[in-house]
Amino acid sequence: MSTLAVNGGEPVRTEGPTAMWPVCGDREKELLCDIIDTGKFLYGGGEHGVAFERELAEWMGCSYALGTVNGTETMVLALKAAGIGPGDEVIMPAMTFIACPLSVLLAQAVPVLADIAYADMALDPAAVEAKITENTRAIMAVSLYGVPCDLDAMVDICERHSLLLLEDVAQAQGCEWRGKKLGTIGHIGSLSFHTAKIITSGDGGAIVTDDKELHDFCRSYRQFGLPFEGSEHDCAVTGGNYRMSEFVAAVLRAQMERIDELIDKRNESAAILDEMLQGLDVVRPFEFHPQVTRRSYLNYAMAYDQQAAGGVHRDVFRQALAAEGCPAAIGYPYVLNELPLLAGPLRERDKGRFFGRRIDYAAESYPVARDLVDNVMMNYSQHWLLSDPETVRDIGRAVQKVVDGIDTLRDREPA
Ligand SMILES: Cc1ncc(COP(=O)(O)O)c(C=O)c1O
Repeated sequence: MSTLAVNGGEPVRTEGPTAMWPVCGDREKELLCDIIDTGKFLYGGGEHGVAFERELAEWMGCSYALGTVNGTETMVLALKAAGIGPGDEVIMPAMTFIACPLSVLLAQAVPVLADIAYADMALDPAAVEAKITENTRAIMAVSLYGVPCDLDAMVDICERHSLLLLEDVAQAQGCEWRGKKLGTIGHIGSLSFHTAKIITSGDGGAIVTDDKELHDFCRSYRQFGLPFEGSEHDCAVTGGNYRMSEFVAAVLRAQMERIDELIDKRNESAAILDEMLQGLDVVRPFEFHPQVTRRSYLNYAMAYDQQAAGGVHRDVFRQALAAEGCPAAIGYPYVLNELPLLAGPLRERDKGRFFGRRIDYAAESYPVARDLVDNVMMNYSQHWLLSDPETVRDIGRAVQKVVDGIDTLRDREPA
């Protein structure tokens, strides 16, 4: 057994990941220069915004795609388009990005948290059922790091209770469930093109759906609240301006040309790691539901088993990995109910935020989310997954090495 770097031994590697991010090149330049040359900067004035939406819908295998400014406003627009508003409850996982509860609050509805499952870090169907009330209107199903939640269970719950299923696939674009892309399983899907996503334009988002009425209302909410030619409604709604500019759309069109290649590359790296981690009981990759017909990793997420590690805490293990030159991230370091957004302190005038309901989020408890956040989850970012295979193997070597030397870490405390 070689000495762990954290104990003074040689590290597995001395450099960070080798991949450049974002992956971009001549095609982006060509399309951007085309916009400068034509002077058509505004969505609809040039061809790129509309073409991007057509190309995205085709790739997603759905009827409609709508480009927006980001993957937070997408969810606000989707909720508003579905008629969700003051006092309505939207159930979401207790551990996810802040944009999820924020989007519900921006639609003036009430975020209701449900605990997550150890298997997929996503909504636990039984916990969701337990949170349904007469005010529940929607479930926001979030799939983190490319690991999908149990979508069959979510569809079933939504059908039985007549709820909207909004899929947040900001981190799982391209993943397929029984051959259909995530985002098209529920009624409406939200995509993000933020810089830490499958493809990127810095910021950007899209809404996908097969439902023309939902699409039409999203479009009105996206653009000044007006009905438009061909829309199924003639209502004016209180929309804003959330269009994507031609520049953003052009970058995304170029990015779409290599999206499958990027997904395949990340999947190949994940397969290397799956194989190298096989048989380890201290660290294992998160499992995929059998309905997943194509994976699309954003990050490579792993579960740490402190018991199998003889009591060594995950963060001591992570310190040892960092010393080996392969630092693993932990993801979101919070459970949503402790965020100031929900738990406060709030300005006096913002206390009406939950529509007169006295919701004491801070007093709620989500034991599985808590344990996953504090003790279990760790991941390698896409910078590692997009690196060359030897760099990816170094992650596997580092994990194996620290597992082999786990007994030498027993007396350490997390920093
Ligand atoms: C799960 C999840 N939902 C929503 C968002 C919001 O997307 P955006 O940053 O494009 O607003 C993000 C990421 O940023 C995310 O990771």
